[in-house]
Amino acid sequence: MKIITTIKEMQQEVKQLKNNQLSIGYVPTMGYLHEGHAALIDEARKNNDKVVISIFVNPLQFGPNEDFDAYPRDIDRDERIAKEHGVDFIFYPSVEEMYPRGLSVSLSVTDRTEVLCGKSRPGHFDGVVTVLTKLFHIIQPDRAYFGLKDAQQVAVVDGLITDYHFPLELIPIPTVREEDGLAKSSRNVRLTSSEREEAPQIYKTLLHAQELIKAGERDTISLVERLKEKLANSITGTIDYLEILSYPELRKLELAEGKVIIAVAVFYQKVRLIDNIILEVPRP
Ligand code: PAF
Repeated sequence: MKIITTIKEMQQEVKQLKNNQLSIGYVPTMGYLHEGHAALIDEARKNNDKVVISIFVNPLQFGPNEDFDAYPRDIDRDERIAKEHGVDFIFYPSVEEMYPRGLSVSLSVTDRTEVLCGKSRPGHFDGVVTVLTKLFHIIQPDRAYFGLKDAQQVAVVDGLITDYHFPLELIPIPTVREEDGLAKSSRNVRLTSSEREEAPQIYKTLLHAQELIKAGERDTISLVERLKEKLANSITGTIDYLEILSYPELRKLELAEGKVIIAVAVFYQKVRLIDNIILEVPRP
């Protein structure tokens, strides 16, 4: 496994892989790898000749009061995990390498950001698509792997790939969970022990939503009210949003029908957690 810190060297490696007609599976990450990332890497390993991951905590996608500085980082641990899962290259650039000067062209997401994380983190997805555009150009993957824990990101990236004709396939991978149901996240380490104990209630609420919908409840306003009440009563964190939308369009719905996402975000003292489930609800 090679660790590459400069764009130039990464481009040279990619050129060689392309010359040798080897396919590239790519997993973009911000590091502090966990089993969720490992699932993406394993899938990439199965279906590509070479696997590249990037580790880059992208300042552009963090708001001024967000956790850029506090975002957990541990490159030695990441290296070990990447090696164990058969990664060929880690692209690990510095902020200066990725953004040596202010950008003279900026990208802005114009659809699917009025809701969920896009609404509560203005500019976040502009930062995500900007860095991914750079990374896709540098790494030129055949396939890129993204976790469905951030289903809005998957929908936005799908728009980026389609609108700008990136010749790559987007592969969404289901959320990996702890035994108690909490979605795996690099940020979970920032929960206090009592917050960690109650955090599985977030997924329990999503499962409750699934049951209500299975039992025939369709009215999204009443579903959201009931779910918010249930969640608020079982956690000390503050609900940022709980929404039921069409997926992947992320449009508001009166009735939970068709492919729908039930998505939630909760603020704890030092961390904001997100989770979701996506359901196929038969239309009458
Ligand atoms: O999901 C993430 O970790 C980040 O948003 C990504 C895709 C690596 C872009 O910085």
